[in-house]
Amino acid sequence: MSTARFVLDPDYRVGAVDPRLYGGFLEHLGRAIYGGIYEPEHPTATADGFRGDVLELVRDLGVPMVRYPGGNFVSGYNWEDGVGPVADRPARLDLAWFTTEPNTIGTDEFARWAKLAGVEVNMAVNLGTKGIDAACNLLEYCNHPGGSYWSDLRVANGTPEPHGFKLWCLGNEMDGPWQIGHKTATEYGRLAAQTAIAMRWIDPTIELVARGSSNPRMPEFPQWEATVLEHTYDHVDYISLHTYHRDDAGDLGSFLAKSVEMEEFIRTVAATCDYVKSKKRSNKTMMIAFDEWNVWYHSTEHDNAYKRDHPWKVAPPLLEERYTLADALAVGGMLISLLKHADRVKIACIAQLVNVIAPIQTVTGGPAWKQTIYYPFLHAARFGHGTVLDLQITSPGYATALYDEVPLLQAVATLDDATGDLTIFALNRDLASPLPLIGNFRALSGYSVREHLVLEHPDPNAANTADHPDAVTPHGNGDAALDGGSLSATLAARSWNVIRLGRGAA
Ligand code: AHR
Repeated sequence: MSTARFVLDPDYRVGAVDPRLYGGFLEHLGRAIYGGIYEPEHPTATADGFRGDVLELVRDLGVPMVRYPGGNFVSGYNWEDGVGPVADRPARLDLAWFTTEPNTIGTDEFARWAKLAGVEVNMAVNLGTKGIDAACNLLEYCNHPGGSYWSDLRVANGTPEPHGFKLWCLGNEMDGPWQIGHKTATEYGRLAAQTAIAMRWIDPTIELVARGSSNPRMPEFPQWEATVLEHTYDHVDYISLHTYHRDDAGDLGSFLAKSVEMEEFIRTVAATCDYVKSKKRSNKTMMIAFDEWNVWYHSTEHDNAYKRDHPWKVAPPLLEERYTLADALAVGGMLISLLKHADRVKIACIAQLVNVIAPIQTVTGGPAWKQTIYYPFLHAARFGHGTVLDLQITSPGYATALYDEVPLLQAVATLDDATGDLTIFALNRDLASPLPLIGNFRALSGYSVREHLVLEHPDPNAANTADHPDAVTPHGNGDAALDGGSLSATLAARSWNVIRLGRGAA
């Protein structure tokens, strides 16, 4: 059995982790909002009709910020439909998902939910069917203190204090032909820049995200980014990336290696940003918002058939993935990839949060439970803070149908500068065998292992369900040990590992 090795040194600093790297996403899609966060008849419902059990899971997961209200949905959304007395709100056809949107939940209700959940709102504006005017009106409604038409309307609707949303997305996936109001890069770039300028006149303190490619296989990638940034570079703070991984060939080895592509995507976008920076002789470095990422493929056939056979339903079950152990490992790999690029990726949103391609799942009128992917995300959000340290890794590799040679070990470390706590996140991609691991701590001394968490299961297709919510859960029986400056551990076959170390004796 060959051994994987790493060198850990506090001088190998990648960058500081922005807590918003652990953001989430909730779209008016399927049962994410209605039946997900909102279910007034549920036994745990709050006075506002929000599911208390879901709120508890969201808080436990440690998500600091949630993107809202879409997604593809936002590109046809009239935000004005979702404010004011609920009885007066119109039901509308949602052309993104072929459903009917009742507009029972809108901006003010979502802001209330966000407060209860303890999360910031990352608000998206419609640049598909709408434009500068609607975006400015929404910002005025949300952030202007009062004394103007839209801000006074917010006050009249029961929210005297401004919502004060700081982060705003300029549209969604405008490069995709599936998007309502799909645009060319030039059309979108000009509209995004002009919208950003006008929005900043209303509230100069906001941060803005321009839309990059929907995925790295889009035909225009990365020219899309270059063109959009030519127009928007001086007016926005982030460019967005989206990616969903799938095990389409039933080839688990390739599936677990897909984070290699995610990293290539990040590097290419960062390089494109720097190209435009240099062309513009700018002093500003553009940061990345990876504001949709996850595994998504189990439900696709069902969703296509459902949309065809049952169009225009309110909150139908769509994109309800049942995540397996293998999916949780893939998500762990994606989290490591995001951390490894924490110098450029400041914002990321797992897509999504409840019921729709989500770590949290509900039964209407019944329980809420944690899918397998809940756990790697929870670990990263809870322990992955401070500074990312690049581990110098030497690992045996493997070849897959899609990739020539991929390291069996994928790993990264974070150092909490305040407490000195160290956390190593490690994925063993070996499908059949444990991977011995030796870590050289050289410049660090006085540490001990506090905990070695492991997520593993004999069946890679094992999943949690409403009836068996704990079929796949992490345990704390990993064997990591530190002897002098040398860490040793055995990473179980196909496993996600979190090795936590602290200064002093355990
Ligand atoms: O998250 C589901 C969908 O995936 C979003 O609406 C869209 O932005 C992406 O294509």
